[in-house]
Amino acid sequence: MNSEFGLLYEGKAKKIFAHRDSEKVIIEFKDDATAFNALKKSKFEGKGELNCLISSKIFEFLAKNQIPTHYLELKNNNSMITQKIKIIPLEVVLRNIAYGSLCKQTTIKPGSVLEAPLIDFYLKNDKLNDPLLTKDRINLLKIIDNQDLEFIINMTLKINKVLKPFFYNIKLELVDFKLEFGYNSKGQILLGDEISPDNCRLWDLNQNNGTIVSLDKDRFRNDLGGFIEAYTEIKNRINNFINSN
Ligand code: TMP
Ligand code: ASP
Repeated sequence: MNSEFGLLYEGKAKKIFAHRDSEKVIIEFKDDATAFNALKKSKFEGKGELNCLISSKIFEFLAKNQIPTHYLELKNNNSMITQKIKIIPLEVVLRNIAYGSLCKQTTIKPGSVLEAPLIDFYLKNDKLNDPLLTKDRINLLKIIDNQDLEFIINMTLKINKVLKPFFYNIKLELVDFKLEFGYNSKGQILLGDEISPDNCRLWDLNQNNGTIVSLDKDRFRNDLGGFIEAYTEIKNRINNFINSN
């Protein structure tokens, strides 16, 4: 679809194409789903479109709340035009509730509400399986300087402060999420990548009868079924909320 533009990069879930304006790129969202560093793979028709539309709405909402993001506009339902950024090779995970790898690697019980948000950093490196980093390791590897790391930490906390009530309004618990940041040509740090049920854990508060109902990629990771239905539900709740406000 975007073949008239040069393919710059293909990742597991997205393709990045050049834009005629060299300060911009086109991000196309694929229907592929992967988990456990692509040990598990599948395709869901419509997934790319859902993640693109969900991300665009969330980026617009964040921009209204003074969070600078790479997002500029939708190109079509499964691709968006963004500022071109140089991605910092860090996966920044914020957790409100303990789940997933935190519970596999520690003694914290799944579902425990954390007293304060926990921020974990991972090295964005598939060959090494995205290992957990410490601040000292980030310094050692010279991934980013301390000032920019503090800026990213503050931005991540602010994004959580804005997104938690946003999701709560549409009866979703924001359990955790993963962010990526990058520098634009002016050296500004922008939120990049996507914000979708691929990289957020969202639990349904409408069906909260003591069991966890995941409306996110855990449906694929843990073979729960109803994957596209869950993503469609997220898109519909976001659209209904935005249209009524
Ligand atoms: P984790 O519990 O597996 O560490 O995941 C924490 C959050 O980060 C969860 O919302 C899923 C998201 N995530 C990604 O977006 N990409 C990844 O590669 C991994 C491992 C997690
Ligand atoms: N994003 C990772 C993968 O593609 C892992 C995950 O989201 O669970 O394998």
